[in-house]
Amino acid sequence: MKALITGASTGIGRDMARVLHNMGSELILVARNAKLLEELKTELGGEPKVISLDLSSLENCYTLFDMTKDEDIDILINNAGFGMYGEASSIPLETELNMIDLNIKAVHILTKLFLEKFEKRNSGHIMNVASIAGFLSGPLMSTYYATKGYVVKFSTALYEELRRKGSRVHISVLCPGPVDTEFNNRAGVSFIINGHSSRFVADYAIKKMFKDRLIIAPGLMIKLGIVLQRFVPTKLLLKISYLLQSCKK
Ligand SMILES: NC(=O)c1ccc[n+]([C@@H]2O[C@H](COP(=O)([O-])OP(=O)(O)OC[C@H]3O[C@@H](n4cnc5c(N)ncnc54)[C@H](OP(=O)(O)O)[C@@H]3O)[C@@H](O)[C@H]2O)c1
Repeated sequence: MKALITGASTGIGRDMARVLHNMGSELILVARNAKLLEELKTELGGEPKVISLDLSSLENCYTLFDMTKDEDIDILINNAGFGMYGEASSIPLETELNMIDLNIKAVHILTKLFLEKFEKRNSGHIMNVASIAGFLSGPLMSTYYATKGYVVKFSTALYEELRRKGSRVHISVLCPGPVDTEFNNRAGVSFIINGHSSRFVADYAIKKMFKDRLIIAPGLMIKLGIVLQRFVPTKLLLKISYLLQSCKK
């Protein structure tokens, strides 16, 4: 078993690396911060391969695939991502385009490239990290929510294509609510509800990925949220999203 995890230097990705390492998986860990990746490599006994790349550069996504083409990878976890809090008019367009490049285009490119490889040998797991935000419109984090919506729609559609072919390649989409990681500082956001720990989310996600679950929602509240939002009128849901996003602890 060999897993490639993007965004493995901190947070959920780092804990997924720990969980998979404990299960005996070989690892290829990707993020920009080489120092943090090296620290994790040391913690995990020096075995994992680490690759420092900025995946918001689309060229680097192809480079990553090329660098790992001879590795027998059977798990791809597209986890790298970031958000930014604020009204759309206050967030630089460049930041939003960078977010689209990382949260959407990098996920899309890597999913496509690895899916082709996995389909050829008819096995493998892909887990794309979205968010409960992927089911909502998110005033005050509009681009972030929209990027995660893309990840949910893209991943779930691929799931059905694979299922109909009887493929043994499985795709999952992880949809957590708030998680206590660097994400919040980077995005300049704080949530009114308590976040899960990244270890809890990582443990849960890996367990469900191996059970071939499509939508992985850690925690009862998050599961309920995903189901109940379907029955709430759009304008009311927007008001609720705005309040949840704007209320600080
Ligand atoms: N925390 C939450 O509340 C929450 C909730 C739902 C979903 N999520 C999603 O969970 C995923 C992981 O986030 P997290 O909460 O664990 O936050 P995090 O601690 O900030 O982790 C983000 C990871 O992505 C990497 N990354 C960021 N920009 C990158 C780039 N341009 N190229 C390559 N790697 C990059 C970061 O490493 P470097 O900085 O070293 O590159 C880091 O390893 C994200 O997709 C996020 O949207 C988070």
